[in-house]
Amino acid sequence: MWWMDSINLDVKNNQLYIAGFQAEALAKEFGTPLYVYNGNKIIENFKALKEAFFAQKANPRIHFAMKANSHLAILRLLQKEGAFIDAVSPNEVEIALKVGFSKEKILFTGTSVSNKDLERLVKAEVVINIDSFSQLKRLKKFGFNGKASIRWNPGTGAGHHSHTITAGKFIKFGIPEHQIESAFKLAKTLGINIVGLHQHIGSGWLGKDVNTFLETVDKTIAVAKKAEELLEKKFEFIDFGGGPGIRYKKEQAVFPLEKYAKGIAEKMRASKLSAEIAIEPGRSIVGDAGVFLCEVNTVEEKNIPLAGVNAGFNDLIRPSFYGSYHEIVNCGNVNGRETEDYMIAGNLCESSDVFNENKQALRELPVLEEGNILAILSAGAYGFEMGSNYNSRALSACVLLLNRKTHVIRERQNLDDVLAKQKEI
Ligand SMILES: Cc1ncc(COP(=O)(O)O)c(C=O)c1O
Repeated sequence: MWWMDSINLDVKNNQLYIAGFQAEALAKEFGTPLYVYNGNKIIENFKALKEAFFAQKANPRIHFAMKANSHLAILRLLQKEGAFIDAVSPNEVEIALKVGFSKEKILFTGTSVSNKDLERLVKAEVVINIDSFSQLKRLKKFGFNGKASIRWNPGTGAGHHSHTITAGKFIKFGIPEHQIESAFKLAKTLGINIVGLHQHIGSGWLGKDVNTFLETVDKTIAVAKKAEELLEKKFEFIDFGGGPGIRYKKEQAVFPLEKYAKGIAEKMRASKLSAEIAIEPGRSIVGDAGVFLCEVNTVEEKNIPLAGVNAGFNDLIRPSFYGSYHEIVNCGNVNGRETEDYMIAGNLCESSDVFNENKQALRELPVLEEGNILAILSAGAYGFEMGSNYNSRALSACVLLLNRKTHVIRERQNLDDVLAKQKEI
């Protein structure tokens, strides 16, 4: 099983273990659907990133992209490790502050930012990454006198799906190449203190896309040099965004961490810019540290062989939304020799609600029985975070495994939670 070494899962006596805990026992104790996060793996991933840069004699600001997983307990783990934060909403900013990240360590990157949002951000005194001329002008009106950077669109994007590509044509983010000089000029005229430049080309790139990314690093460095001349000052940081992918399936290569870190570090060194390197990884820190557990409640041959589970895309939307592949493991019979092909069907009233990467791609699994617990692997990033109450389903519970202990870090919602804030008329 390729995922055993790669993502710290074990199989003993044909049973799946997560960080030393038997998956079926976790399902029994905490109920399903259940997110299980391996806190030690999260720390390990963060350290691996840091060390990849240390090996290149670079010490980047690692802004954890909390949109990938914003549980307080997980943010606290990363705060203790010295992480910075990439926040994309005022709520995320205020959550990060509550966890204890200092305002200097929080970079807000928004899009279609409202005046109400701006007011809260100015009050929070975090660094604001500006993504439009409109935001630049309105910030001035709110009496902003803090630090800001500018997000530009380097013209090329990459990502695991078109939805996650965030640079290039037909993209709403950042200031495009032909306007970037004007943006710096306007910032200068308005007296906005620009201390950095930012790019984020997309999420979940691997393989050849690392070269595409490194080409955009060159472009961003060139723009930073021009901007420093224009503004007559040195930047404090250049932020190359997030995006490093993870291995969701056997056929995918492992992310070339050394090539990535070396590429950025060498290019920055050659540029002679004094700015610090910043990056904004989310998926590569938490993605493979999360497992989603659900229970089989229906095994039946319809016009397709079907295994129905007690979860849906309200819990984990990546397969339905992006056609994403997640490994699925029968926790109590991992290596069973007798197998069948199944549609792993969710419990929502939508035919797209399956955990296979698409409806036609049936998944071969050891023969399933009702009551079996399934583990959907690599669900730690953009899993729970993209959850919803669709079909009035409750959000699942979340457990953190840390140093051989279990911690419930989010309780399962109940009907009152689903109804909260509603008013009858
Ligand atoms: C601005 C920005 N930074 C960082 C990230 C994190 O990306 P990833 O989780 O792929 O590292 C995202 C996600 O799309 C983003 O929009």
